[in-house]
Amino acid sequence: MARRALTFVCQNCGAVSGRWQGKCDACGEWNTIAEENAAAEARLAGPGRPPRKGRPFALEPLAGEAHDAPRLPSGIAEFDRVTGGGFVRGSVLLVGGDPGIGKSTLLIQAAASLARTGGRAIYISGEEAVAQVRLRAERLGLASAPVELAAETSVEDIIATLGQGKTPRLVVIDSIQTMWTDMVESAPGTVTQVRGSAQALIRFAKRSGAAVILVGHVTKDGQIAGPRVVEHMVDAVLSFEGEGAHQFRILRAIKNRFGPTDEIGVFEMTGGGLCEVANPSELFLSERDLGSPGTAVFAGIEGSRPLLVEMQALVAPTTLGTPRRAVVGWDQSRLSMVLAVLEAHCGVKLSGYDVYLNVAGGLRIQEPAADLAAAAALVSSLSNAPLPADAVFFGEVSLSGAIRPVAQSAARLKEAQKLGFGRAYVPEPARAEAAESGLALTGVGGLADLVADIAQRGSRPGPRAELRAARGDR
Ligand code: TYD
Ligand code: MG
Repeated sequence: MARRALTFVCQNCGAVSGRWQGKCDACGEWNTIAEENAAAEARLAGPGRPPRKGRPFALEPLAGEAHDAPRLPSGIAEFDRVTGGGFVRGSVLLVGGDPGIGKSTLLIQAAASLARTGGRAIYISGEEAVAQVRLRAERLGLASAPVELAAETSVEDIIATLGQGKTPRLVVIDSIQTMWTDMVESAPGTVTQVRGSAQALIRFAKRSGAAVILVGHVTKDGQIAGPRVVEHMVDAVLSFEGEGAHQFRILRAIKNRFGPTDEIGVFEMTGGGLCEVANPSELFLSERDLGSPGTAVFAGIEGSRPLLVEMQALVAPTTLGTPRRAVVGWDQSRLSMVLAVLEAHCGVKLSGYDVYLNVAGGLRIQEPAADLAAAAALVSSLSNAPLPADAVFFGEVSLSGAIRPVAQSAARLKEAQKLGFGRAYVPEPARAEAAESGLALTGVGGLADLVADIAQRGSRPGPRAELRAARGDR
């Protein structure tokens, strides 16, 4: 009998090495390498057997009958927005998120909603017992929905069961990390097992035409635990996020073969499960601190939808040798850049101050268009000058201190107007284009102009004198 070849596989990135080591050379994670059986892996790939002679197949022209990917709307509009109009038949979707964020809740709601429209929906839990899933469904008021349930972890058994009767429309596997397949000898939860199970389920989806949703856990640094490889295998990867104590949750597409990746779905976690939030701007602005310095409303765009959020800054004299720079919900390096531009081109000296920046409500913004709002909040806090409560800001700050125009100005302004805002600080080049918005527009050509405008209104003499002196210098 052949010697059992052991290999060592990183449980974070899937890299294979010949010996155990404390740190993975490929991804740099510590303590993630585990022993796995290479023979098992090889069996998965179909080895040992004599090479099979290939079977010719027919090739097709590109311009064939292009039938639109048939969609299955989940009935939850925010979910469908993210997937691009519903689940695609025969596709596999991976939903990742921190433990306790609400993945199981969201998917049982989606399964129930789909089942109520007449499709066969199956929910397989590898983590909870049937009774626990039932209890949750009862609390969510979904007990009457014709969802078929099972608590199972063997992929072969699951696929055999799914193959019986009418082809299911939707199959939820909660979670892929708990599944195991006979094809692989490694322990459940290892990369090889997860990959093998995912492969088998993907094959089932393609063959049967059922939409399969895999739930994946996320590690503390935000990656879907274990196999990033699964992300490459599936058709779409959605991430379900939320910030600690905040009630709302955001569903975001990271990869999508059949739709956009920049749309977000916004939900609120309530006692009765996840509720859709149709107008997120209202939610993110609901507890605004009107009239206090250091807050600016950013008119942003998430996907195709405008979204207003409040950016909050606190600039306070530091007691540390190296002042603190902390940011929540935005990019640390963009904050550093805005601070550097303020310092280099606007004479705002921040080296003696701690700087904190927070995006209210726990949203994470990625747009560079938030630069102007962040800068406004920072300067407002520094000079203790509240910004006009009815103003929104957007624009990208370039390293020269100029404000560059950003996409979709009109949509941003329309949303601001809808929510009762009266004026907007926009990049100067975008002012003409935005003229018919109905808001009072202030075109900002350079960051220095904005700084001067805010500092004028400030009540803190120190920075103001500093700012004025800096302006005099130029
Ligand atoms: P769950 O869906 O089990 O999370 P996951 O599958 O991502 O681990 O959600 C668990 C959390 O959701 C739990 O901390 C309580 C909260 N929750 C509510 O607030 N209301 C509800 O109706 C339900 C079902 C859960
Ligand atoms: Mg769960």
